[in-house]
Amino acid sequence: MLWWLLVFSTLGLGAWGDSSWDKIQDKHLSKGLQDLLGNISQLIEKDKRGLSGVSTMVSRKQWGADAIGCSAQLALPVDFLVTHHVPGLDCQNQTSCSQRLRELQGHHVRNGWCDVAYNFLVGDDGRVYEGVGWNVQGVHTQGYNNISLGLAFFGTSKGHSPSPAALSAMEGLISSAVYKGHLSPVYVQPLLVKACPLIVQRSAWDAREAHCPKMNQPAQYVIIIHTAGRTCNKSDECRVLVQDIQSSFMDRWESCDIGYNFLVGQDGIIYEGVGWSVQGSHTSGYNDIALGLAFMGTFSGSPPNAAALEAAQNLIRCSVVKGHLVPDYLLVGHSDVTNVLSPGRALYNIIKTWPHFRH
Ligand SMILES: *[C@@H]1O[C@H](CO)[C@@H](O)[C@H](O)[C@H]1NC(C)=O
Ligand SMILES: *[C@@H]1O[C@H](CO)[C@@H](O)[C@H](O)[C@H]1NC(C)=O
Ligand SMILES: *[C@@H]1O[C@H](CO)[C@@H](O)[C@H](O)[C@H]1NC(C)=O
Ligand SMILES: *[C@@H]1O[C@H](CO)[C@@H](O)[C@H](O)[C@H]1NC(C)=O
Repeated sequence: MLWWLLVFSTLGLGAWGDSSWDKIQDKHLSKGLQDLLGNISQLIEKDKRGLSGVSTMVSRKQWGADAIGCSAQLALPVDFLVTHHVPGLDCQNQTSCSQRLRELQGHHVRNGWCDVAYNFLVGDDGRVYEGVGWNVQGVHTQGYNNISLGLAFFGTSKGHSPSPAALSAMEGLISSAVYKGHLSPVYVQPLLVKACPLIVQRSAWDAREAHCPKMNQPAQYVIIIHTAGRTCNKSDECRVLVQDIQSSFMDRWESCDIGYNFLVGQDGIIYEGVGWSVQGSHTSGYNDIALGLAFMGTFSGSPPNAAALEAAQNLIRCSVVKGHLVPDYLLVGHSDVTNVLSPGRALYNIIKTWPHFRH
């Protein structure tokens, strides 16, 4: 999460943290920062290099975007800014970043979205890449798409902090958004909503229909599981794997649906299992009060990668923010509550360090 601190120190906003969410939710841009943005805008106006001096913009045409697009318009200026960090976009120059972005667009479209999910993306090369642009709603943050700009950093598979060039490009992008009237000068950055990862919905992995008992919401436990089967690190592969896991549960083990509330791939993406409102069938005695979160693969010898671990932690935070999980939840390993090897020793050693872990 270091990158968030970096972003915030760059923008001059000080302390923040999970505990002060409400305060931050209401926190408007500090007077000093408004001033600074105003001054930056003036500089831009005076400076004949103009807005292009703020950052190099790579248009959709330049990065070779497919023509598919979202059409819902944003009513400008928007009041919210949501910044994201997208794992798996390793690149250092315009050629390779364009390639990663075309892959991301393909991935998002296959997941059922109308285009690449963000309004703009910022690469470590310091370039700004046009996503759906200024005027169109992205698909980055449920509940905020029609009232916010979604700006994203290219992240690596291993997880990292954005480069100084990327941070300064992001800063320039935000100030030009304010200057050009796309973003309100007193915009709000609702910090925790960005903690909700993108979730591949059942319809996007072609889930079979099922009707299982409802959960007792909010859940009180999170149970970390590994599926002890094969793993996946590409979105196509992961979707097929989730389908296969559902089939095993329904056809071989006569469960009413896939047994987990959510699954995590080594592509760093969360796949909806039965979701938040329906009971899984992962742990007898706990299914109605616990969210079963399964890492796809076997993690006895080596742990899941950083992208998968981060996605899982974001999902847990997001579950609390959305009221699907009590704030004082307990996090346990599968082996703590039933007689199994899951979630594997290597993964268990990691979750032992996570918040709310209870042996
Ligand atoms: C913005 O410019 C004004 C007038 O030049 C100056 O007084 C103020 O300190 C500047 N604010 C920042 C944050 O640089
Ligand atoms: C761009 O980066 C890729 C790897 O990230 C490298 O293979 C390629 O040579 C670079 N191209 C230029 C023009 O620097
Ligand atoms: C955004 O969408 C929500 C839910 O669909 C709707 O209630 C709200 O009025 C919309 N806001 C704007 C500014 O369009
Ligand atoms: C994905 O998995 C394959 C097979 O396990 C492996 O060879 C490859 O390096 C992995 N790719 C990434 C990006 O982790």
